Amino acid sequence: MPPISVNVDLGPRSYDIVIGEALLGKAAKFMSPHLASNRVVIVSDETVAGLYRDKINLEGLNAAWAVLPVGEQTKSFETLQSVLDTMFEHGLERNDAVIAFGGGVIGDLTGFAASTYKRGCRFIQIPTTLLSQVDSSVGGKTAINVRHGKNLVGAFYQPKLVLSDMSVLSTLPPRELKAGYAEIVKYGLLGDAVFFDWLETHGHKILGGDTSATAEAVRKSCETKARIVAEDEQERGARALLNLGHTFGHALEAEAGYGGDLLHGEAVSAGMEMAFEFSARTGLCSGQDVVRVQNHFKALGLTSISDLTHLFAHPENLLGHMDQDKKNEHGALTLILARAIGEAFVQKKADRHDVSNYLQYLSLKFHSTN
Ligand code: NAD
Ligand code: GLY
Repeated sequence: MPPISVNVDLGPRSYDIVIGEALLGKAAKFMSPHLASNRVVIVSDETVAGLYRDKINLEGLNAAWAVLPVGEQTKSFETLQSVLDTMFEHGLERNDAVIAFGGGVIGDLTGFAASTYKRGCRFIQIPTTLLSQVDSSVGGKTAINVRHGKNLVGAFYQPKLVLSDMSVLSTLPPRELKAGYAEIVKYGLLGDAVFFDWLETHGHKILGGDTSATAEAVRKSCETKARIVAEDEQERGARALLNLGHTFGHALEAEAGYGGDLLHGEAVSAGMEMAFEFSARTGLCSGQDVVRVQNHFKALGLTSISDLTHLFAHPENLLGHMDQDKKNEHGALTLILARAIGEAFVQKKADRHDVSNYLQYLSLKFHSTN
């Protein structure tokens, strides 16, 4: 399969996403046009470095590695400091590059380090999870977590290149693959009913490790994300659509406590089901669309509301978490809702009473003592 290229058209900040097989073995060749010198720092986590440090081709490069612990807690001020220290110690200049080699945790942290180092150095993404290949490596959102919440300190900062190698997904645990698949379904549900149809037929191949079906889904996802980001780089309008399922999902993640019990993509799949169910309850979309979404999730073993009943015991907590959402304006909730599969829209000033009723309904459904 020859590599496919998807361009993110952002004027002087434009870049390509290269999608293909066995790209790690040619990484230096793909990266060199984007490098001003041969000095680079590669940031990775212990799992990815353990599996792929010897396989990534860095011919001709003078590379220093920062290998970090696995997990969400790595997106912290302390690890940011340690990555910046490695960049200083290796003598990176502003025109030199830092390379994020890992999942979304590594990409978000490294991108933020790049945005601050000497007021901004070059940055390349080599995403190694399905989630990071279809979502977090594209579009320039970078962040760390603080005690006030997830992703609350960060910057919009675009990479020079995204190199997405389908071959690395063969070592990804099935649970992580499903979490990434949820973000793929999101692109169908938010704006492309034909893509959702395609996933209903071919989705199982992606979870089964078929690299050409996966590359096709990654391409389609990146094209949709690139189009939306080109229209609204800093999320003043249309980019909020990419948050379908995320407002409900983030509330579930917060309620679960970010301890690894609930992955981001798992929260997003249940959150998308909630967005459709809430849309149907408020007369926006048909119950048939909800059933179709649920059937697809069930067929592929994605996380659904009924897998997370314990998180609905305290609906007031969930509403409290939703109040912290970054999309809210003047204290009012912003939700991404749907008129049909492939027809999502941004609902500002969503009716709090309706949301509260829906959360109460789920709580009673799963926790009624009668
Ligand atoms: P992750 O980076 O924690 O990776 C998940 C797990 O997979 C880790 O244990 C990692 O070591 C392992 N792994 C990675 N690649 C592997 C491979 N090829 N083989 C075997 N194991 C591998 O998590 P993620 O799901 O990639 O990303 C989640 C993060 O992304 C969250 O912090 C979330 O906030 C962020 N995110 C950011 C954006 C954005 O637009 N910037 C979008 C979505 C999510
Ligand atoms: N993951 C949502 C965005 O990039 O906007």
